[in-house]
Amino acid sequence: MTRERWIINIEKLMMKNIVIVLFLLLGLGGCYYDVEEDIYPTTECSTEDMSYQTDIFPIINDNCLGCHDAASNFGGITIEGYDLLKNFVDNGQLVGVIKHESGFSPMPKNTTKLLDCEVEKIEAWIVNGAPNN
Ligand code: HEC
Repeated sequence: MTRERWIINIEKLMMKNIVIVLFLLLGLGGCYYDVEEDIYPTTECSTEDMSYQTDIFPIINDNCLGCHDAASNFGGITIEGYDLLKNFVDNGQLVGVIKHESGFSPMPKNTTKLLDCEVEKIEAWIVNGAPNN
């Protein structure tokens, strides 16, 4: 092997390695940016001091009362207003249906589950004694 050829070989080898190193760096960069916060933005879910009026009623109104207001009364269930909803808090059905627990008819019916945050808010409100606030 001439000296020149030897140098060319070394250069080729280095080029190959540089390409590999570049790929590795890009790969690592890719991983580095795959941090959880970027993929699943952490929207804060506040569950402190839940209020029936401002936190719970809007969730029930948007997702349930279309079928369970007094006029519709689907399945013979009306949860319009605090007192009627409270019955389903006390018998455990409200949590059972929104968490799709076995033994309960999953609600809202025929559509996607409530958002995790909505379920958490309702549960936090119940843990606080489901106040009429
Ligand atoms: C599209 C109509 C519809 C919507 C929306 C809906 N429900 Fe229902 N719900 C029903 C029907 C119909 C029944 C009767 C049981 C069945 O058919 O599954 C029922 C039954 C129930 C029951 C009794 C469950 C049982 O296991 O016997 C509860 C409690 C209930 N719903 C709560 C809710 C809550 C809370 C929401 C909102 C998160 C909701 N529902 C949304 C139609 C609906």
